[in-house]
Amino acid sequence: MARISILGATGKTGQELVHRALDEGHTVTALVRRPEALAVRDERLEVVVGDARDVDVIARVATGQDALIAALGRPESGRTKEEIDDSQSVDVCAISTQHLLDVGPRVGLHRIVLMSTHGAGSSNDGSPYVRELRDKVGNRVRDKDRMEELLASATTDIVWTVIRNPYIYDGPVGTPYGIFEKIELDDTSRVTYADLAAFAISEALEPKHPDTFVTITEPLTGNAA
Ligand SMILES: NC(=O)c1ccc[n+]([C@@H]2O[C@H](COP(=O)([O-])OP(=O)(O)OC[C@H]3O[C@@H](n4cnc5c(N)ncnc54)[C@H](OP(=O)(O)O)[C@@H]3O)[C@@H](O)[C@H]2O)c1
Repeated sequence: MARISILGATGKTGQELVHRALDEGHTVTALVRRPEALAVRDERLEVVVGDARDVDVIARVATGQDALIAALGRPESGRTKEEIDDSQSVDVCAISTQHLLDVGPRVGLHRIVLMSTHGAGSSNDGSPYVRELRDKVGNRVRDKDRMEELLASATTDIVWTVIRNPYIYDGPVGTPYGIFEKIELDDTSRVTYADLAAFAISEALEPKHPDTFVTITEPLTGNAA
């Protein structure tokens, strides 16, 4: 069994990751800003309260871990979708990734899986799907762009995988999906939180896509690049 740190553990994907990692028998460190939003309690779960932009917090949750998974996203803690101000600049993914690259190797962390969005970095392909996404939540996607740039240019002995997500929805684990280094998405592209969490944990513990940006999505009807 492994020791896994999960950043963004109160988010939808983060909660799924915590539940699944515990169910698989792993020991989990969960970084949260709002402990009251994480209902699960378990003797193999340590909850650390802090902001992922704080280097000391990152050092703490990276220390002694076999792998770390980050599902960091929305910038405004506890707000509803409607209350979130999308004109506000977002930096949590870029800053936390820089800290991970800086302190991770020093504290013995050598494996990270980071969540991004399809449409960031080299997946910004000008397709209607990506144009609409970047119009709607551009500040959040630009944070992922910066995170991806840091990893693409990093010289590090941390082995990383970036998962570029499509629309994520509630559904069962086991819905067939594909993993693509290049693909054009459309508005049918999606993956369940459960499948995403299972893939992220398996990738964290047995990397099949080291130092690679991948898009995960349920099979599309004929537009794979
Ligand atoms: N949901 C989708 O359809 C979709 C589509 C494409 C890509 N993505 C990406 O996929 C990943 C998972 O998405 P999701 O919908 O599960 O995310 P989410 O529900 O929005 O959760 C985001 C998490 O990040 C945490 N967070 C934000 N800023 C933080 C900070 N400064 N310090 C510590 N924690 C911070 C939030 O904490 P609080 O609870 O305190 O706010 C929350 O736990 C994200 O990277 C997201 O951008 C999602």
